[in-house]
Amino acid sequence: MPMSKGHEKTDSKSAPYHSSQPSDLVRRFAELAPEGRALDLGVGEGRDVLYLADLGYDVTGVEQVEGKVVKCQKRADEKGYHVNVTCADVRDYRIAQRRYAIIVCVGILPFITKNEAQALVAGITAGLKKGGLFLCQAFTIDDPSYKVHKRKSKEVASGVFVSGTGSIYTLYRYREILELGAALRPIYYHAYDYYDTEHGTPHWHSMVDFVGKKL
Ligand SMILES: C[S@@+](CC[C@H](N)C(=O)[O-])C[C@H]1O[C@@H](n2cnc3c(N)ncnc32)[C@H](O)[C@@H]1O
Repeated sequence: MPMSKGHEKTDSKSAPYHSSQPSDLVRRFAELAPEGRALDLGVGEGRDVLYLADLGYDVTGVEQVEGKVVKCQKRADEKGYHVNVTCADVRDYRIAQRRYAIIVCVGILPFITKNEAQALVAGITAGLKKGGLFLCQAFTIDDPSYKVHKRKSKEVASGVFVSGTGSIYTLYRYREILELGAALRPIYYHAYDYYDTEHGTPHWHSMVDFVGKKL
């Protein structure tokens, strides 16, 4: 079982967002999942949606920004993929039970509280079919943004910050993501730093990747 807890530096190829390429997590682990339906929570412009659809998954996406929903759906329709993107808040979205072979949370956990994440992951666990995979990525408290939020935002729970405009920003301690996915069998856990050169001034991020399997 490739479980790595080291805090190692990786290069910008591990960059999780902003690229038109699928996330490393989805690209690496999708082939371990059974066939069938996939659910991507917080699709952005749809890089993982398109990748999963290209692999043959029937993909449902959820995204709260309407412009991104339209863009992702258009890109999928142009390719003739089986994709349905819904404009919704993942915290309100009801995940059908035992339906999905793969559920992706890349980039969404920073924007909801830990209590909301617990409820979401309970729904994800129930939503996976047997052998299905939960692919998840979060920022850790070693991320440089942690110090900034400590100074500038209100910490309403450990690692959960609310800015002056009401935006939520959540960072996790190293074992918290394992605890979050405790109802699943952990098949991969990797904590790492990477230097993000994909947007703005190059900067560091500290991340954790987790993959859990529904038994
Ligand atoms: C950092 S981006 C990652 C997008 C995509 N998963 C990717 O890896 O390219 C996070 C996305 O989640 C969306 N998002 C944030 N909070 C959300 C919520 N509560 N419900 C639905 N979407 C949300 C944002 O609009 C944004 O598109």
